[in-house]
Amino acid sequence: MCGIVGAVSQRNIVPILVEGLKRLEYRGYDSCGVAVHQDGGLKRARSTSRVAELQAQAEQDGISAGTGIAHTRWATHGAPAVHNAHPHFSAGPNANEASVGRIALVHNGIIENHDELRAELKARGYAFASQTDTEVIAHLIDHLYSGDLLEAVQAALPRLKGAYAVAVFCRDEPHRVVAAREGSPLVLGVGQGENFVASDAMALAGVTDQIVYLEEGDVVDLQLGRYWLSRLDAATGRFTAVQREVKTVHAHSGAAELGPYRHYMQKEIFEQPVAIANTLDAVTGISPELFGDGAYRVFKDIDKVLILACGTSYYSGSTAKYWLESIAKIPTSVEIASEYRYRDSVPDPKTLVVTISQSGETADTIAALKHARSLGMTHTLTICNVATSAMVRECELAYITRAGAEIGVASTKAFTTQLVGLFLLTLALAQTRGHLSDEVEAQHLKDLRHLPVAVQAVLALEPQVIAWSEEFARKENALFLGRGLHYPIALEGALKLKEISYIHAEAYPAGELKHGPLALVTAEMPVVTVAPNDALLEKLKSNMQEVRARGGQLYVFADGDTAIESEAGLHVIRMPEHYGALSPILHVVPLQLLAYHTACARGTDVDKPRNLAKSVTVE
Ligand code: F6R
Repeated sequence: MCGIVGAVSQRNIVPILVEGLKRLEYRGYDSCGVAVHQDGGLKRARSTSRVAELQAQAEQDGISAGTGIAHTRWATHGAPAVHNAHPHFSAGPNANEASVGRIALVHNGIIENHDELRAELKARGYAFASQTDTEVIAHLIDHLYSGDLLEAVQAALPRLKGAYAVAVFCRDEPHRVVAAREGSPLVLGVGQGENFVASDAMALAGVTDQIVYLEEGDVVDLQLGRYWLSRLDAATGRFTAVQREVKTVHAHSGAAELGPYRHYMQKEIFEQPVAIANTLDAVTGISPELFGDGAYRVFKDIDKVLILACGTSYYSGSTAKYWLESIAKIPTSVEIASEYRYRDSVPDPKTLVVTISQSGETADTIAALKHARSLGMTHTLTICNVATSAMVRECELAYITRAGAEIGVASTKAFTTQLVGLFLLTLALAQTRGHLSDEVEAQHLKDLRHLPVAVQAVLALEPQVIAWSEEFARKENALFLGRGLHYPIALEGALKLKEISYIHAEAYPAGELKHGPLALVTAEMPVVTVAPNDALLEKLKSNMQEVRARGGQLYVFADGDTAIESEAGLHVIRMPEHYGALSPILHVVPLQLLAYHTACARGTDVDKPRNLAKSVTVE
């Protein structure tokens, strides 16, 4: 999704800006750009190609300066085209053709009242060169500018409705960048005599490890060797100084080595044993305190769980519902964050609100969390992969998964480590509620510790999955079936296949087949079935018969002891181990591999699938 990098320095900062964009590249973008203060004016390069192309263009155009901003854009308003790419320049009513304007600006987020502002600025004589909501901010700041960029930005911000992170500089103030956030992440990087701003600390890895996480409503004025933070005081209507802690952050580089792998997604699938082991590293026993100080008091105080998440994280939450209800005996609901935030629901203050997020920056999940809190549900916990993210800062309690940076847009190791975190939460709640004996706890811990080895054995199935993927690559549709605990795994398998191979895939609880989807089954329809040896196996076998009777081709991931044998129209891959409650963590792995190899066979851009972004920081 959109990325921002900005800098004020004595040295040429273009290589830093470009490197920062490269570190954010994996999040997905469709255009990019850089602008600097050079020779007394604004200069920029923009491209609808990759950042490497932008870099070559900037070098060719001799773009080099100490003050500048850069951006990767994921189109929301206006097509992915050079004229819509950021940075945008203001073109004030008095700007002549030779002038490139006064204000340069990059923006993440969405300005909801852009139509109204555009009409107002047009009436004042401003000319628009793009279809973006961003350009209105550049013009608005230009309109309000009377010699002090900070004052102009502070005057403009209250007029914006929506979510934003912006970074701005001005032709008339060569050593200054002003940045602000409301609803989109932004960090300040403090250097030696130079200052930086970025939408993620990762963009500044190798430049500075001194990071200030800006809070909602913060405005930062960056100059050479100094910065000043302020925010609007609602009581006085004036901006007043604020202090924020400078943290030492060892951000991982987004440009991690691929090693022997073709894609980050493949690397991340194969990193799962290590990611799970790291996530369990500090766990010596089950206790509420795994989730933070004061967790015991919170767990004692609640009698419901509400899980809020999007996409793959929603499916880990959906899996956890089965655990929470059957093991911890706690009523649990799981809601898609983008729906929940706008829904009239019945709040119960004795609810533990659990958000799940790889990035910790997903706008809908953060908004849903705030919505739940506004309804009086103040007990909040997050399962998150980024310790410094907004989600972790917003929640009372947290469990940080240790998957490491996930670069591939399609989530894999974040999902399985979320499941580990959610299983620990289930056990901690079960313990607090008196549903976890010492023997059962010991057995679950043993199973958790064995997981990395069990996942490794599943990864060894790759050659068999590759053989299937060649068949799948020729299909345009696929059905995924699962039951109970493995229904969300079927949903996740279908999501993986559709997002990276562009094959239309749907998942159903197998018992639902005859209530509609069976009509789709023909010899052309591959039906992937997740078949662990659990209490629903015999029911699932009947559902498989329903498919075979209609000529459907079954592709079954079966536990070794399920007595499901390959025959015409029935293809079976045997899972190495039967894994009880933790079986979803094993069964999702071959589905990830199937999606990955099918996408490779179809030649898609696996790590950056079309139209998708890694971290969805807009609504
Ligand atoms: C799918 C995928 C997305 C994310 C979703 C939530 O492979 O990655 O569906 O799971 O956008 O993102 P996070 O977990 O960062 O909140």
